[in-house]
Amino acid sequence: MSETPQTFEEWWVGSHYRKFVQQEGLPLYEESYLENLATLPLAEWERRGGKAAYTRLGDQEIVNLQVVEIPPKGELAPEKHMYESVMYVMSGTGATMIWQEGEPRKTIEWAEGALLAIPLNAWHQEFNSSGDKPCRFFFGTSMAQAINQYHNFDFIFNNPFVFRDRYSYAMEDYHVKDRHWNLRLSETNFIPDIRKLTLDAWGEKGTRTSIMRLHMGNTDSQIHVLEVGEGTYVTAHRHGAGAHVIVIDGQGYELLFNPGDENNPARHRKVPIKPYGVVSPRLNEYHQHFNTGKGPFRQLAFKGWTASPATSTSKGDYDPVGAARSNNPHGYAYKLRYDKEAPSVREEYYRELEKNGVDLRLEPIDQGAK
Ligand SMILES: [Fe+2]
Repeated sequence: MSETPQTFEEWWVGSHYRKFVQQEGLPLYEESYLENLATLPLAEWERRGGKAAYTRLGDQEIVNLQVVEIPPKGELAPEKHMYESVMYVMSGTGATMIWQEGEPRKTIEWAEGALLAIPLNAWHQEFNSSGDKPCRFFFGTSMAQAINQYHNFDFIFNNPFVFRDRYSYAMEDYHVKDRHWNLRLSETNFIPDIRKLTLDAWGEKGTRTSIMRLHMGNTDSQIHVLEVGEGTYVTAHRHGAGAHVIVIDGQGYELLFNPGDENNPARHRKVPIKPYGVVSPRLNEYHQHFNTGKGPFRQLAFKGWTASPATSTSKGDYDPVGAARSNNPHGYAYKLRYDKEAPSVREEYYRELEKNGVDLRLEPIDQGAK
């Protein structure tokens, strides 16, 4: 790295994020779907201990996942970094210590279902509290974006700046904050089990669908928890790349297809979804969630850390309808209404429900509508 490059091959860096993952000596998973983060093969992680892997899903480097496992009685080395990070626990029990330089430490205990914001550039360290079981979690992060922007690992991981506006020990309610600011919008930093989080109805997205958008870590994080009721599926939609949808409860399948293939079911890709699968559509790739189980289907989504054009109007006002609003095929997000989808989509859903003995709970649609 210190030597002056002599050839194009030596000089060219396709992606500083890829280079970082190589330096970490960890696997990088690509594509737009991974069947199960809980069983994804990981490699020994020299820098922090435990095992880990990275993702580069949906052909983008805006949001990524860092999947981590700590062996029984194990711990990771502390770190801090100039990128946003939110932790979700898939299995096991443990704790995260969080602190700013020169301040006392806070310990947050967690188990499956917990969602915890890691404040920007604050120290954090994770521990497995079990003597006989590993624990596994992932961080949804803006690491790829930050590394590509600054491409200086020392700046990212060894930066002395303390963001006291994001977190300080003096913020006594930080880890219990649960402020429901507006319809479908809350501010929080720690939720012990998002599988039980109360959501707001989102009829514009689909029948018996509900959502809660979460701003975490004193940022404009675009994170949400979405639930699709039993016997229901949501409308297909598409938008920019970077969204990661992680299934946290229930079962079903996902349809992925490209614009132009709306009425060509042979080109619809159908993948099973159950905890802890992840779908991360490519730019404008349609995606559509189908609940085929008994009980609700729930997912956690990461869409980045900057204000989303889907939830703020051109004047910057909050729009609770969000990505379900758009009927404009050239807009940021586009929703394919139930009555515009290929008739086979619903027919196939009937068959899947029948196999599982679940009743359809959707209004009939007029497939001939304009
Ligand atoms: Fe989406």
